[in-house]
Formats: sequence, C-alpha cells, structure tokens
Amino acid sequence: MVDVILGLQWGDEGKGKIVDYFAPGYDIVARFQGGPNAGHTLYVKDKKIVLHQIPSGIFHEDKINLIGNGVVLDPVILRKECETVKPFVSDYRKNLFISKRAHVILPTHRALDKASELAKGNEKIGSTLKGIGPAYMDKTGRNGIRVGDLLDKNFTSHYIKLRLKHQKLLDSMHFGEDISDWEEEFLEAVEFMRQFKIVNGEYFINDNLSKGKKVLAEGAQGSMLDVDFGTFPFVTSSNTISAGVCSGLGVAPQKIKEVMGVTKAYCTRVGGGPFPTELFDETGEELRKIGQEFGATTGRPRRCGWIDLVALRFACMVNGVTQLIMTKADVLDKFEKLDVCTEYEINGEKTKEVPFQLSRIEIKPQLKSFKGWNRDITATKSSDQLPEEMKTYVNFINDYLGVQVRYISNGPGRDQLVKIK
Ligand code: GDP
Ligand code: IMO
Ligand code: MG
Repeated sequence: MVDVILGLQWGDEGKGKIVDYFAPGYDIVARFQGGPNAGHTLYVKDKKIVLHQIPSGIFHEDKINLIGNGVVLDPVILRKECETVKPFVSDYRKNLFISKRAHVILPTHRALDKASELAKGNEKIGSTLKGIGPAYMDKTGRNGIRVGDLLDKNFTSHYIKLRLKHQKLLDSMHFGEDISDWEEEFLEAVEFMRQFKIVNGEYFINDNLSKGKKVLAEGAQGSMLDVDFGTFPFVTSSNTISAGVCSGLGVAPQKIKEVMGVTKAYCTRVGGGPFPTELFDETGEELRKIGQEFGATTGRPRRCGWIDLVALRFACMVNGVTQLIMTKADVLDKFEKLDVCTEYEINGEKTKEVPFQLSRIEIKPQLKSFKGWNRDITATKSSDQLPEEMKTYVNFINDYLGVQVRYISNGPGRDQLVKIK
C-alpha cells in the first residue's frame, strides 16, 4: 500500500515537516519527482534541517528512503546533503537507496538553466537554477544520463558527448561563464555517488509492497507547479501530482490509498507567474514576516496572499485528495480578519474553474471574509481547544472542497500538529 503526501499550492506548504511526522508509520519513504529545486524543512533535535533530494524519512533510522526514477539528481548537492545529515544518523548510506533510472543533473544543465532564464528576460520563470528544466528536457529528449549509467564503463564518453552538445547550446546562447570548477566537483561527486545502493527502484518497491510493507511517497513542489496542470509556463518540469507517483516510482495506481494534500492556511508562491490572491499591501508583508516566508532553497522572499479555494479545489480534483493537512495556521493567529477566494472574476464573468492559462488575463479574486481567532494556538494539542472562529474557517473550506482537513499544523515543530477529532 502506498500513501502520498504532496503540496496543493505553489510549493513550500510544509511537506517536509509532515512527511517527517508520518514517517514512523511506514517502512519506506520515497521521493518520486523533482530534484534539488525542492527545499523541505524539518527539525531534528531542535536543529533546523533543509533537505533537497534525500527523502524526509532519513532521520528515522529504521526506515528505508528511496530516491525514485522520477527524480532528477545532482550528485554535487547529494554529497553536500549527506554532510548535513551525517551528524544525526549512524550511517546515511545504510538506508538510502537510489533508482538506476533516475536522471543525473550535470553542471551544464545548471548552466543551461541560467542561460535560458537570462534569455527570457522579464518573462523568466524564476527557476531555482538547479538545472531541473534542462535535465528533464534531456530525459524526454532521450539524451540524458541515468544513475545506473554512472556504473557503466562507458560513462565518461557518454558524459563528454552530452557535455559537448550542451556546450554548443550554451555558445549559441552566448553564455560565457567559466564552469570548469563545477565539472571537477561533479566528477568527484559522481565517484561519491557510486558508493550508494543503486537499485532497480521499481522492483525494489514492488517487492516490498508484495511483502506487505508500507510506502509513503513524498511529493516536491506543489500542484500549481505541475508541468501539465500548473500555471504553465511558470511551472516546474515534472508531474507533481499524484499521477507522478506511478510514473516516478513504478507503482500501479491501485496501490495508492491515501492522498494527503498539504495546504497552508493562506497561500505563497516563490518565483514568477500568476498568483490570483497575491497581496501587495501591508497584510501581505505581515504574512511574510510572521510566516518567515523566505525560500528554503534560494532564500528569496515568498509572495504571500489569501488561501485560493478555486485553485485548491482544482488541485484536490487532479490529485484525488482523500484528506487535507492545513499547515501554518498559527501564522494567522494575529489577524483580525481572514479572506478566502471562492471565485475568479474574469472579464466580468465569475467562475469556480481554473482557466487553462492565467498569464494573459486579469483575474479578480472574489473574497469571502471571516473573523480571525486572534489568539495564540501554538501550544494547542487537542482539536477541542481550537478557537471557534478557526472551526468556522476550516469548516467552510471543508464544505467548499468536499474534502476534510484532518490535521492542523500550529508551528514548525515535530509535535505541533493537531489531529481533528
Ligand atoms: P516544503 O517545501 O513543503 O517542505 O516547505 P518548506 O520547508 O519550504 O517551507 C515551510 C516552512 O514553514 C519551513 O520553514 C517550516 O519549518 C515552516 N513550517 C511548517 N509547518 C509550520 C507551521 O505549522 N507553522 C509555522 N509557523 N511554520 C511551519
Ligand atoms: P518544494 O518542494 C516552491 C518554483 C521556482 C520557479 C518554478 C520553476 O520546496 O515545495 P525550477 O527550479 O523547478 O525550474 O523552478 O518553480 N519552485 C518551487 N517553489 N517550492 C519548491 O519546492 C519549488 N521548486 C520549484 O521558484 O518559480
Ligand atoms: Mg520548500
């Protein structure tokens, strides 16, 4: 049986903390897409840790962590991450498995990402510049190098061939930066990566499933950044939705049971692209300040706004969300009034549907206001103790979405999660 935890907005919903919380109930935690563009924050012994490629179950020593075939993996970043994880686990190699079919991010992918963003000018996506787009392009373009290839005696010639191809592209884009240092670091990291347990991820996971083991699939980014269903072209290059679990791990759809969708109690986005409920005023500033809304991977300030139920309903639909987890509810503690977006007005017409493109239209979010609870909820342990105003806010969201909020996160700590009775 496979359960999934994924983000329903534009990423950074708090997936890392939630996966870390639920990991004890599973045997395997597996990442199925994305790469080091992700930044998943969790706390171990009160120390803040940000994971980029290693699954958020790594600190539970009896759990297996798998980097699935749908992931694009940067050996250099993996090496650095292992240094971060090392002090907290006895042997990080013991429980970390990597699929042979996962694609490798090369230094030239990172350079191409940068060149592509520079070429876009004002229309840039705001990529994390980790090489995600170019690496997935080489996957679908059938050129990429996979983790299994690192073990092949022809790896070097394969690498040089692809690098030359990339160099031609970079030259045509007038990218002049010297990346020779990046290459040295990369080749050292490749050597480091060869020492990991590199497996046929699909057999590995299915063999475990047939033995009755439980798998928790950890999503990266969020549904509105999905390459098919997100706010294209301001998206990432993978399927972030639950369908990505099947293709990104090699599991059949009927193996998936719970789809736990994580949403903030409000909304944020980092990078460019449409964001209908974005607040440009003091309230937005307040959300950013209280919520500490700065990117875990890039440190960029996150754009903030009210919760967007039109987009959330869409995300619940395309994912088949079975339960919701609402994070960062405590960030709203001090607000007198809370708004939620229930409809989009486009050219004078109201709709509850997300249009196929949001970049070339003006969307006026239709807001419904709620009274804030105006008290500190960070120490609350039981749902009976949650404020009435919060119950009204959450019940409205439950009814609108037709899916129930089952947990409310009231702080970044491992123990700050209230189960709704
Ligand atoms: P992810 O990418 O979905 O894992 O989320 P990030 O780690 O990028 O961003 C979430 C941020 O919010 C992190 O700094 C978390 O420590 C923090 N966080 C998670 N849940 C809560 C919560 O309920 N309340 C508060 N105040 N912070 C939270
Ligand atoms: P987690 O897993 C928030 C955004 C980038 C940019 C767009 C494309 O931590 O939630 P890319 O690097 O993929 O080419 O960037 O997607 N983005 C994220 N935003 N959280 C993330 O991951 C993100 N990963 C990518 O800011 O707008
Ligand atoms: Mg993040």
